[in-house]
Amino acid sequence: MSEQTSTPRPAVTGSGPRTAPALLSVEHLTVRYRLGRGMTGRARTLTAVRDVGFTIGGGRTLGLVGESGSGKSTIGRAILRLAPVSEGRIVFDGQDTAAFGRRTPLSFNRDVQVVFQDPMSSLNPRQTIAATIGQALTRHRPLSGLERDREVTHALDRVGLSGYHSDRYPHELSGGQRQRVAIARALAPRPRLIVCDEPVSALDVSTQSQVINLLMELQRELGVSYLFIAHDLEVVRHISDEIGVLHHGRLVESGPAERVYRTPEHPYTQTLLASTLVANPARQAERTARRRRLGADA
Ligand SMILES: Nc1ncnc2c1ncn2[C@@H]1O[C@H](COP(=O)(O)OP(=O)(O)O)[C@@H](O)[C@H]1O
Ligand SMILES: [Mg+2]
Repeated sequence: MSEQTSTPRPAVTGSGPRTAPALLSVEHLTVRYRLGRGMTGRARTLTAVRDVGFTIGGGRTLGLVGESGSGKSTIGRAILRLAPVSEGRIVFDGQDTAAFGRRTPLSFNRDVQVVFQDPMSSLNPRQTIAATIGQALTRHRPLSGLERDREVTHALDRVGLSGYHSDRYPHELSGGQRQRVAIARALAPRPRLIVCDEPVSALDVSTQSQVINLLMELQRELGVSYLFIAHDLEVVRHISDEIGVLHHGRLVESGPAERVYRTPEHPYTQTLLASTLVANPARQAERTARRRRLGADA
């Protein structure tokens, strides 16, 4: 036999190089929350996400945008197995996560991490930064005290923090510094995907740019993929390879970022884009400043 035998490649529908299967594939995802019984005694449900599909390739970023209540966090939570998958499937690295059942494999818990909007509530206020990072490092890998200290220093250095910060408590840091700690903690288990749920929404504009630049740098260095959630199209512009626009739980538009910004197809996307371009001088100035900092040819 002269021909090499190879396993058939799964079809690729979206992001990533054509030859590689997607790292994450969300297919026809519908999420319903149970709301308990109403006055009539009938069980009520709320459909937060309807028939949503997208893929994220290795080392790529999908920016997911939509107004508050559109279902963005629910999608992130479903991927993290914190919200129910009522219909459809979520496939990570070729594995249907429904097959995990109740026990999420350790490898998945390591591979998929999260950064939330508010690090003040996601970081333990009674733990120093070094303790928080150290704990994240040793959760999945046994390390000696010495190795642990060395790795904590390295993890903080990688997100632009120093030894000065390692003995501080979360309340002693700025919002941007806390978010850097949350990013260092998410990176500690060497994940392949990070769900970033509005990680910069609580930060001022210049800090937003710094944190986004940091995430992009880390992606180049480590090849990690992001699902980057925001309510503002402008925020995800520079970090996203693909964009998905959610409206009332439905993905009304998705595609390569450049195409979505240049020729938005759905009226809702056009409205969202227009609202970032409003004739609001303060907003315009912010926007210009942000783009300049990001080195865009604005
Ligand atoms: N645990 C929950 N139980 C019931 N309804 C929820 C729950 N979490 C979110 N919802 C509802 O689902 C919808 C989508 O919420 P969410 O995913 O948080 O939107 P977003 O992140 O875009 O603001 C909203 O109507 C919200 O009220
Ligand atoms: Mg949310």
